Amino acid sequence: MSRKFFIHFIISFGSAVLILGCSQTPEKKSLTTEQKIDSLLSLMTLEEKVSMIHASSSFTSGAVPRLGIPEWTMSDGPHGVRKEHGRGWVGSESPEYFATYLPVGVSLASTWNPELGYAFGKVLGEEAKYRGKDVILGPGINILRTPLNGRNFEYLSEDPYLVSKMVVGYIQGVQDQNVAACVKHYLANNQETDRNTVSVEMSERTLREIYLPGFAAAVKEGGVYTLMGAYNKFRGQYCTHHEYLINKVLKEELGFDGAVISDWGAVHSTMEALKFGTDVEMGTDLSQGPVKDYGKFFMGDTVISLVKSGVVNESLIDDKVRRILRIMYRTKVIGGGDRGAGSFNTLEHQSAALKIAEEAIVLLKNEGNLLPLNKSAVKNVAIIGANASRKQGGGGGSSQVNAKYEITPLQGIEKMLFENVQVTYSEGYEVAKDSKPNADKIKEAVEAARKADASILVCGWIHGYTDLWEGNAYDAESVDKPNMFLPFGQDELISAVLKANPNTVIVIMGGGPVDMTKWIDKAKAVLFAGYPGMEGGNAIGKIIFGEVNPSGKLTMTFPKKLEDSPAHAIGEYPGKDNVVHYNEGIMVGYRYFDTKKVEPQFAFGHGLSYTTFLYENLQLTKGDNQSVVVTVTVRNTGNRAGGEVVQLYVKDMESSVERPAQELKGFQKVFLQPGESKDIIVTLGVDAFRFFDEKKMEWVLEPGKFQIMAGSSSRDIRQTKDIEL
Ligand code: GLC
Repeated sequence: MSRKFFIHFIISFGSAVLILGCSQTPEKKSLTTEQKIDSLLSLMTLEEKVSMIHASSSFTSGAVPRLGIPEWTMSDGPHGVRKEHGRGWVGSESPEYFATYLPVGVSLASTWNPELGYAFGKVLGEEAKYRGKDVILGPGINILRTPLNGRNFEYLSEDPYLVSKMVVGYIQGVQDQNVAACVKHYLANNQETDRNTVSVEMSERTLREIYLPGFAAAVKEGGVYTLMGAYNKFRGQYCTHHEYLINKVLKEELGFDGAVISDWGAVHSTMEALKFGTDVEMGTDLSQGPVKDYGKFFMGDTVISLVKSGVVNESLIDDKVRRILRIMYRTKVIGGGDRGAGSFNTLEHQSAALKIAEEAIVLLKNEGNLLPLNKSAVKNVAIIGANASRKQGGGGGSSQVNAKYEITPLQGIEKMLFENVQVTYSEGYEVAKDSKPNADKIKEAVEAARKADASILVCGWIHGYTDLWEGNAYDAESVDKPNMFLPFGQDELISAVLKANPNTVIVIMGGGPVDMTKWIDKAKAVLFAGYPGMEGGNAIGKIIFGEVNPSGKLTMTFPKKLEDSPAHAIGEYPGKDNVVHYNEGIMVGYRYFDTKKVEPQFAFGHGLSYTTFLYENLQLTKGDNQSVVVTVTVRNTGNRAGGEVVQLYVKDMESSVERPAQELKGFQKVFLQPGESKDIIVTLGVDAFRFFDEKKMEWVLEPGKFQIMAGSSSRDIRQTKDIEL
């Protein structure tokens, strides 16, 4: 080492130790984080700065060891810490990396319980920290625009208000563990078909009212530390380096001061990435095997020569490094302070997974109060369906989790039964590439159902494994569903089993709606279980036999058939020539069904209970700043305790622009004992009444009459009152 370099090294290292650790030396005047970052930047060479703004391995970005700055370590995914992939995408199956497999996003959101959002995030953050991760790549919050999107299961809802309320707790739960959350995929990544090339076209009002609010809440209320740029384009420019979406809306308007991390391989231009807001370029060139030289990335070595040649100002690089260092300080990756050790696969984590699953499962139908089944009365139970015994956690793509264990519906149901009960399991259908009914399997299932005094059929989508299931992976990344029909001949099975035993309970698993028109009228009891995580089987068993009273509500409309869905009725999907026009605009989900009076199979916000609730005495009182205080009394009029989600919808009775028949603008989940009542009080701020005027480019409240409705779902309105604003 030359004498000159040695002196430089000592000065820099010494200064770095001082800067990084000076908050530990009380006699030193403590520098602010920004001052510490200024000082670190002043010590860094250009090469060191550039090494931090692109990947250094499959899930890390570059370190500056000389200054005590480690690599920034990331991991998927939104509902559990992904199995270890090391530095070169070699997945490890070692039990040491088994993790807590939480219910997926759409199941978490189906609880309509923001407190569980926090609990969910806390588990995820503790496990990420235990595994040495600085960033967990979740929550995924893209709007559920079409039932066919392969990744709907990972996301939350069709409604931006519900997304906004469920995302905040999740982020805070993660970040309170000194781990950065990464809200994704910004933005309008609402299909997997052509995800790397398609350009999404939508009106400004659609952007502002539907696709942006979840991200805005993540930034402004959740304080999210990182955000992932989406693969697709928006109005012709790649989202991950987008002058309007990132520089103007995200960083300027919303004041996002964290780091924008590209999706893996989502950067397509050095200059655009440098100028339009990408802070860290991640990715790997799987086609060549694990990337050997990460300097070849768009934001790699070429940036050094662009700066040295004066084409690019070094201040552009400084801002990116600053954002990374800011989050490293905030999460105590640098700067000292106790980050905490995290925890992994604890009983607390597993009971959180169970609690969320119990509140996530939606009771869609319960004719004649068939459910709950009385386990003392059953001697012979038929359990049917490949999904009853299928473990789902390891599938789905990047959100896969190697679960410590996974209780299947079959196991969870069996656990509820008394010793002497006879259980017959029949697969009923074969999970295979083709979708033909299997006559032998159907015959076997029908016989079992006929003889049983309790019959339960578990069906639905599967978490496909895209590497094995090109084209029909169903609920999985990088591929959309071919249609809304149940695959593998399940319709024929369900119809035959219901004919043999009309009291068969149907449990649907999956990330969203299926076409059930062939048999729904014959089914008395139907549950939607989403993908309820490692404890999901236990939750399903407890609900079927009444140990738990279901309180979940749908977060997306279940259309009767795909053609009824707005993205397919009036919008484009999947688009053509790599452009998709969101012609339905703001009429997404129930906004469309309710405004255009299309009857859904099951409505947004729908979910039954084993008890009943009465809504009384809705009152509206004008508050400050054009707000309205809504009070409504909810009473449990049944004979068992239960949870109810009181939903508040707003209708603008007179407006200069077309507005939806109603929009969700408030909700509260309440648990009541039999006979107990509670006054629900929710303040609707002025935002609840505004629409986005794209001519004025601002939110406006047009004076006039508004209707406020309190309901148990968007189609089960119990109380209505008008108010002049
Ligand atoms: C994937 C996904 C993203 C994930 C990332 C890393 O392609 O789109 O959600 O976090 O790559 O695996």
